[in-house]
Amino acid sequence: MEWLQLACVVGARPNFMKMAPLLRALDRHPQVRTTLVHTGQHYDAALSEVFFDELGMRRPDVSLEVGSGKHGQQTARILERFEAVLEAGPVGGGRFDRVIVVGDVNSTLAATLAAVKLGIPVAHVEAGLRSFDRSMPEEINRIVTDSLSDMLLVSEPTGVANLRREGHSPDRIQLVGNVMIDTLRWLLPKAQARDTLVRSGLSARQYGVVTLHRPGNVDDGETLARLLEVLADVSNELPLAFPVHPRTRQRIEQFGLSERLSSVGMIELPPLGYLDFLALTSQARVIVTDSGGLQEESTALGIPCLTARPNTERPVTVDEGTSTLVGSDPLVLRHYLRQVLDGRYKQGRCPDYWDGHAAERIAAALVGESSVEARHAA
Ligand code: UD1
Repeated sequence: MEWLQLACVVGARPNFMKMAPLLRALDRHPQVRTTLVHTGQHYDAALSEVFFDELGMRRPDVSLEVGSGKHGQQTARILERFEAVLEAGPVGGGRFDRVIVVGDVNSTLAATLAAVKLGIPVAHVEAGLRSFDRSMPEEINRIVTDSLSDMLLVSEPTGVANLRREGHSPDRIQLVGNVMIDTLRWLLPKAQARDTLVRSGLSARQYGVVTLHRPGNVDDGETLARLLEVLADVSNELPLAFPVHPRTRQRIEQFGLSERLSSVGMIELPPLGYLDFLALTSQARVIVTDSGGLQEESTALGIPCLTARPNTERPVTVDEGTSTLVGSDPLVLRHYLRQVLDGRYKQGRCPDYWDGHAAERIAAALVGESSVEARHAA
């Protein structure tokens, strides 16, 4: 049998929950061989290793160990090291037929660039999302990755429209649904069976969850101070669990804002593993976040989500789901928190194809599209 050799790339925390179900789905196709490559963009155990265990994902076959750095540095290191991996080819010989990248982190962009320069086609999972805000590093990553990929696997209808508008051929675009929600649906019962709430002294629906890590919110001292002030104030009425991202932790210390986390209702936590975090979010009254993934997860869970960003590349979470864009204006945040606490907040619905089966659709597309004949004809 001639194998279909796929190099699957992960690098940062939000990549793992997207790649795990995809690897499982690909394993069910006997003609497929996957090589899992971890760039090492995230390397702390709390941001990386714990996910491999909890998501039942095998250890990476190749680790590039690039670590943190400026964007150019980090991207360049991945480019150089991943190019060498692609040139070496899969273990056992042959050549990679395709590279699979997910999401919009620096690893996604760098791996794509390395692959296409070697003539290896790329499939991008979560293609087409656009915030139309080029000050976000992720927007640049999305635009470049999509422009270089020849299989564009999309999670929500706006992604299809964006790609069509940019001139991508319709036969390269496929609406497959949200693969991260596959992981959520699979692990929700296991997460909720944990004693996460009890350990933090919380009761279901009697607390909120906060995450903040976007440069736009945490890298400016005044913006961060104002957000933390509103949250500290709200926490007097509703306890807030706040797992603090390493980047945010550094900024809080740098700007001397640690005391804003010390109000009684603020429950400061380290970055959590997938199961503890899902246990927290799925039983919360409200979520305040600037994370892309969490906007989608809260919509899938039906939990109100106040998104601390001026825009979103995932508008379905606002138009159909439970999210509202509140920017970084404390008054707007306070207004919507009040609505939630008074039971007046909108309900929302789960978007189409966020049904727990996106990975199967992606695997089928990969196997069909990259059949041996198609590869040789290309
Ligand atoms: C990256 C992604 C972002 C994603 C986020 C999820 C890019 C451009 N950004 O942002 O889209 O939402 O991951 O977490 O790819 N650090 C650690 N330990 C680690 C990794 C990082 O302490 O394991 C610290 C380092 O000081 C590092 C900083 O966090 O400089 C930022 O890490 P980086 O990977 O550059 O970006 P994130 O903010 O994590």
